[in-house]
Amino acid sequence: MLSKKKLGTILDEIAEKEWSVIDDLFPSDFLEELKAEVRQFWEDGDFRKAGVGIGDSLTVRPEIRSDRVLWLDNAQLTPLQKQYWDFIEQLRTEINQNFFAGLKFFEAHFAVYPAGSFYKKHLDQFKEVNYRKITCLLYLNDDWTQADGGQLRVYHPGDETQFTDVIPINGRFVCFKSGSVYHEVLPSKRERFSLTGWLRTN
Ligand code: OGA
Ligand code: MN
Repeated sequence: MLSKKKLGTILDEIAEKEWSVIDDLFPSDFLEELKAEVRQFWEDGDFRKAGVGIGDSLTVRPEIRSDRVLWLDNAQLTPLQKQYWDFIEQLRTEINQNFFAGLKFFEAHFAVYPAGSFYKKHLDQFKEVNYRKITCLLYLNDDWTQADGGQLRVYHPGDETQFTDVIPINGRFVCFKSGSVYHEVLPSKRERFSLTGWLRTN
């Protein structure tokens, strides 16, 4: 599904600045079908309020994040999810070969930000544990523009007075180092869909 050239671009960007944004990675029929799948789960009421923290300290904190999530079951992936996992597997192999990262597997959830929701500035590692190494985001939205809000604000590692606002347009793939790249989701004015996952160690 993926050209070596685009995979190389992602790796170069991560090596250079710790985060990467790339478009046109996936065929449009794959994206259309995945968009339909996530909307079906959403209409079926399968999503839950997202929490903050891990284990006993996992709590719903609407003042920090107000999205809804549906965790995917690695043992029961749909054919479309399996295709995405295959792509991530190529990325994982490549990152391990180039950065000796010891990435073992991938965990992911669909996320929906209903109109008005956001996720305040944070890192994707918990205070207690740091097994999440690389965050991978795939946006699944129709015709998103700046005016719709919901941008991913990426704070530049090394100088957090600088940031880049990434618009969650359809098919855009973003990845970054989970432990060092601060980021937030600005308030979204429309229902915003994504598939969010983490390459992690054990
Ligand atoms: C997250 C997150 C960003 C986004 O779920 O941890 O930061 O753009 N998501 O959805
Ligand atoms: Mn995050």
